Amino acid sequence: MRFFVLLQCMFFCLVSCTQDKPSKSEKPSEKKTAHRDYMEDGKKIAYNTFTTLSSNLQKAMKEGGVPNAAKYCNLAASSLVDSLEQIHHVDIKRTSLKVRNQNNKPTQRELDQLNAYQKQFDAKEKLEPSLQQLEKGMAFYAPIHLMDLCQKCHGKVGETLKSEDYAIIQDLYPDDEAIDFVAGDLRGMWSITFKQ
Ligand code: HEC
Repeated sequence: MRFFVLLQCMFFCLVSCTQDKPSKSEKPSEKKTAHRDYMEDGKKIAYNTFTTLSSNLQKAMKEGGVPNAAKYCNLAASSLVDSLEQIHHVDIKRTSLKVRNQNNKPTQRELDQLNAYQKQFDAKEKLEPSLQQLEKGMAFYAPIHLMDLCQKCHGKVGETLKSEDYAIIQDLYPDDEAIDFVAGDLRGMWSITFKQ
């Protein structure tokens, strides 16, 4: 038993050491390529947007459940997202193969990336953020996975998503396709465009 615990400790040390290494060695060369900066900036912007959205969402869910929170999953309605876009000179979008708001539908290049992510997900591969050089600017993509909390609005109707809550969502989004997800699923992706 003890041996097993020891083995486990060694394993975790190994994992955390190998995870540490890239970030340490990456730091000094941050300026080396423009690529590096877009990748780091994209990650930061996606992370900041996600934290803002999800803290607003959780607060609104606590205060009044799904009916009260439904509007907090809308990026366009957030003034903080608006200011992030202006500060960083970017467009911030989330898109998916199954959208709730038709305004979030993927463009052709986004559709290609979504299909690539879905293929990797189905093959149980690890999904990583990626960059794409555009004619004007640079695109950053990163996968979005579903968490437990998200099922309350994107889950299975009558199971994880209450029928009465879904009626409200459908009222707001009659063309909704974004249901039937389970925690861990690939829900969609960030698509951040650095403008030139
Ligand atoms: C309270 C209900 C609610 C919860 C909880 C919720 N969402 Fe949403 N989600 C929505 C609504 C409503 C929209 C449509 C927003 C809009 O108008 O752009 C949406 C849109 C999205 C989109 C944009 C693509 C599309 O379908 O239009 C993504 C991606 C997304 N949600 C992911 C998540 C993830 C991940 C979580 C959990 C962290 C989550 N959602 C939790 C209600 C919810």
